[in-house]
Amino acid sequence: MLQHNIVVIGSLNYDILVQQDRLPEIGETFTGNELMLMPGGKGANQAVQCAKLGLNVNMVGCVGNDIYGSELIKSLNENGVSVDNISQRGKTSGIGIVQILESGDYCSTIIKGANYLISEPDIHDGLFSDRPLLILQSEIPDRVVERAISVARRHDCQILLNNAPAREISPQALSQVDLLVVNETEASFMSKTAVTSVKEAMTCAAALQQKVNGRVIITLGEKGAVLSGDAGARHYPAVFCPDVVDTTGAGDSFIGGIAYCLVNNIDLEEAIPFAAKISSCSIQKYGGQSSFPMLPDVAHALTQNRQRLFG
Ligand code: RIB
Repeated sequence: MLQHNIVVIGSLNYDILVQQDRLPEIGETFTGNELMLMPGGKGANQAVQCAKLGLNVNMVGCVGNDIYGSELIKSLNENGVSVDNISQRGKTSGIGIVQILESGDYCSTIIKGANYLISEPDIHDGLFSDRPLLILQSEIPDRVVERAISVARRHDCQILLNNAPAREISPQALSQVDLLVVNETEASFMSKTAVTSVKEAMTCAAALQQKVNGRVIITLGEKGAVLSGDAGARHYPAVFCPDVVDTTGAGDSFIGGIAYCLVNNIDLEEAIPFAAKISSCSIQKYGGQSSFPMLPDVAHALTQNRQRLFG
């Protein structure tokens, strides 16, 4: 088994998912169809997808001293993520309120809870001593994200930033990121330009690439993704999925796939279709972590490197 180390520093949210036909109007009381309670949070979701692909994952974050906190830790444990650096602090865990429509599209509101009780002293050199890939999102305080980038850089490990939900990142911190992954909304926020088409996404990715140390991926849902790298910007179509149930966590499973390829030295040109395949599996079931596929379910999507990786 290949052993590669990933450190995810980020959020854990207990998700309250409501399947409903449409969003209510202001002032309207609307009747939803179904309620589901599941572990989520962008950080924890990405950690779980990496672990499901067979990577060694160490997650750093905070949950509250409530039943949700215990459930969030349990889910990481059950999926093989190391929880030695998860602290239980404060009263309440982060919560995600997710509304899922008939199309599988969703919108969500997150309550920060204990995710904002992680602080700079939690980010220390020991986390990076074996030169892991660091994965960050933006559901924890900015100063912690920026400290993680600066400490990780000292250890020569790769840094993947998923700036979701989009926040202002200092130019200095951004310039040390090896791979920036954002969706069209986040890309638009960061570039202050419209990103409503593949063409606009390619232009935006190339502009954002000037601000980072490496490459940029913009995910576009059913329009696929664009990569801006050494050879310029390129578009990758989405993997067709006839049975979309719930897109919650699709971006997180995509990042797990990209992380798998980065640590296995697989080119992003091949990583993007692989990650898109993973993502397309995840949207066929409700929720985040429980919907994510294991490596054997998607290994066939890796072509050029299949022999080298799987024998
Ligand atoms: O990316 C999906 C996740 O975003 C959900 O699990 C929710 O908790 C929010 O963090």
